[in-house]
Amino acid sequence: MKLTDFDIYSNLLKTKSGLVLTEDKVYLLESRLNPVAKKWGYNSLETMTIALQGVPDKNLVTDIVEAMTTNETSFFRDMRPFDMFKDHLLTYMKQARGSARRIRIWCAAASSGQEPYTLSMILKEAQAQYPGWTFEIVATDISHDILDQARAGLYSQFEVQRGLPIQLLMKYFTQVDGQKWQISDDIKKIIKYQYFNLLEPMTSLGTFDIIFCRNVLIYFNEETKGMVLDGMAKRLAPDGFLMLGGAETVMGLTKEFVTLPDHRGVYVLPNSPHLQKKVETPGAASPLGSGSATPAAPATSAFGLPPKANTTTNS
Ligand SMILES: C[S@@+](CC[C@H](N)C(=O)[O-])C[C@H]1O[C@@H](n2cnc3c(N)ncnc32)[C@H](O)[C@@H]1O
Repeated sequence: MKLTDFDIYSNLLKTKSGLVLTEDKVYLLESRLNPVAKKWGYNSLETMTIALQGVPDKNLVTDIVEAMTTNETSFFRDMRPFDMFKDHLLTYMKQARGSARRIRIWCAAASSGQEPYTLSMILKEAQAQYPGWTFEIVATDISHDILDQARAGLYSQFEVQRGLPIQLLMKYFTQVDGQKWQISDDIKKIIKYQYFNLLEPMTSLGTFDIIFCRNVLIYFNEETKGMVLDGMAKRLAPDGFLMLGGAETVMGLTKEFVTLPDHRGVYVLPNSPHLQKKVETPGAASPLGSGSATPAAPATSAFGLPPKANTTTNS
């Protein structure tokens, strides 16, 4: 592929989706876009590239973006964020949202659904402790195709073997045609799948108590990462939490989020109550159990705070 052609695709992807393509990815571009060219009736990638230089068909651009997204995901991916969600974030929300009895979660790069379904299964397992509560998961992605797969909730043997505990497989899936596994409607029903491009204004999504935005920022440049994080900060309840992927951070990208001390991968707003300084007796154990505290010790854990007045979500 000529460098000028590569530039056409990398500019298009950056503008339309934020995805950054480095020159060492020419092979990836060619292998993923050749089928798109074929689908659109072009006899080669070069011919499609020429067509893109005029006023390209919107649907062709959509197909190109979708072909270039990486949808790698799995149930309980990396485990730790989901333990954190179950053991700490939910426990905090149970107190803080005690009067509204409502928790709104955003899965901002939902891919084929494993992440939102993982959260939904955790919520289902905890349901007995939340009588009369409403849980809502808004699961968004830029790829229409992957959202269709997520909505279907149908997984291969390989997919259910990656990270999903066998007892949850038995409880919430049924085998179809001896090959695929269908997730139950009970797990599906609290999830609302919708197309959403993270480069777009986020106001219409409402406010969330917890945002999962995992393993998508890694594909963006610094400026785009900062812009997306700034947008998310406005969509988070004042005492809400943002969860990023293991290779992602807010540091150096935005002033709208800070790391929750002692909780890697969990981010809060700079004025979050979870960061309130707590004057403690020297030598007293910290609420996190992370060593002895000093006067004006760093932030207490979110989870050490007393129940808060309810924060209304204005979705
Ligand atoms: C690697 S998957 C991550 C899935 C899941 N969050 C996880 O960690 O397992 C990244 C997803 O981000 C989506 N994506 C890429 N660019 C996007 C954008 N600009 N807006 C919304 N979603 C995007 C892709 O379509 C893909 O499904």
